[in-house]
Amino acid sequence: MSDANGKAPADLAARAAALDTADELGKLRDRFTLPDGVVYLDGNSLGALATGVAARIAQVITHEWGTELIQSWSAGTWWTAPERIGDKISPLIGAAPGQTVVGDSTSVNLFKALVGAARLARPGRTRMLVDAATFPTDGYIAESAARMTGLTVTPVDPSDAAGAMDEDTAVVLLNHVDYRSGRLHDLAALTAAARAAGAVTVWDLCHSAGALPVGLDEHGVDLAVGCTYKYLNGGPGSPAYLYIAARHQGAFDSPLPGWNGHAKPFAMTPDYTPAAGAVRGRVGTPDILSMLALEAALDAWDGVSVEAVRAKSLALTDFFLECVAAYVPAGRVESVTPAEHERRGSQVSLRTENARAVMDDLISRGVIGDFRAPDVLRFGFTPLYVGFADAERAARTLGHIFG
Ligand SMILES: Cc1ncc(COP(=O)(O)O)c(C=O)c1O
Repeated sequence: MSDANGKAPADLAARAAALDTADELGKLRDRFTLPDGVVYLDGNSLGALATGVAARIAQVITHEWGTELIQSWSAGTWWTAPERIGDKISPLIGAAPGQTVVGDSTSVNLFKALVGAARLARPGRTRMLVDAATFPTDGYIAESAARMTGLTVTPVDPSDAAGAMDEDTAVVLLNHVDYRSGRLHDLAALTAAARAAGAVTVWDLCHSAGALPVGLDEHGVDLAVGCTYKYLNGGPGSPAYLYIAARHQGAFDSPLPGWNGHAKPFAMTPDYTPAAGAVRGRVGTPDILSMLALEAALDAWDGVSVEAVRAKSLALTDFFLECVAAYVPAGRVESVTPAEHERRGSQVSLRTENARAVMDDLISRGVIGDFRAPDVLRFGFTPLYVGFADAERAARTLGHIFG
């Protein structure tokens, strides 16, 4: 077997080894616990376990909960965890401190953000533009948020979104990276277009945060949400985050004004006075075990730049595509992920027949990706713990299945 350039597959294995040796981020894999013999390419669904998490959670359970009991809320680190961990995520999404708060699921934060955006929008505007290919929960929540605020949802392909924004557009909801195809949208240009049209932007960062630079402050994004269990490795069901740009914080009117978002939660007053800053995005009691697991997981980012992660991510996905072209017989798979770097996230999605059965076969051979209906194999590349040899083995195994 040889690829279009006549390169023998053995060259690819040797090249992978050389690329791994030269990779400055390669040593970060030691910050994670991964099973031997497995190639894990599903970090865009559930990130791997960071090494410090188990010990930290054991300490929280036995000491902070088991011994300190209620004092851990008042004297310990628990009460302020949502904003403290939000500030730990902030550099990864290009946000200055004080604008990001952690808690609830992405779906719930999206509800807060969309209703909050509609309440910030210019009066008289009637439309909410929503990424037509969005992850379903965003569409469902947008529909409800629009109904509650008197707006109408207009589905739009992100490539056409800028042209669709006008003086009637109240809110624009877009994904930074499409969950199915891995297509990266131009956050800077689309946010600029929305600002020019006077619309409020809400970005879903689930598939970009931790994989590539986002630049929320730099590009003037209004509101954003994202989950932490993918490229941020927070653990199954770890809490999501809500970003409220500093300039909107005074006017941000949450549709879920729970007591944790109150200016004086322990005053127990019947009237609601929102807290200053992103804290007003909080709702109820935070899920401390998940939060503190996430906090410990974020230590894996110590000393790591998102720019370096992005450079490796592109090199990995380029190399994987090259290996797929070399190992998989022509015509068996088709990449639906854009080839251009500026349009590619950190995953490769391959369309094929019997995709579910192919993915089951891959997993049984130790290569874990995932399947998205109806016909897509998804391979997520998390540069903190995935190497070039993993990419080569995954493509080679795929080639064997089709061989
Ligand atoms: C783009 C996107 N948005 C939202 C969600 C849903 O998040 P949650 O289940 O935390 O509400 C996901 C989950 O994978 C997602 O990929």
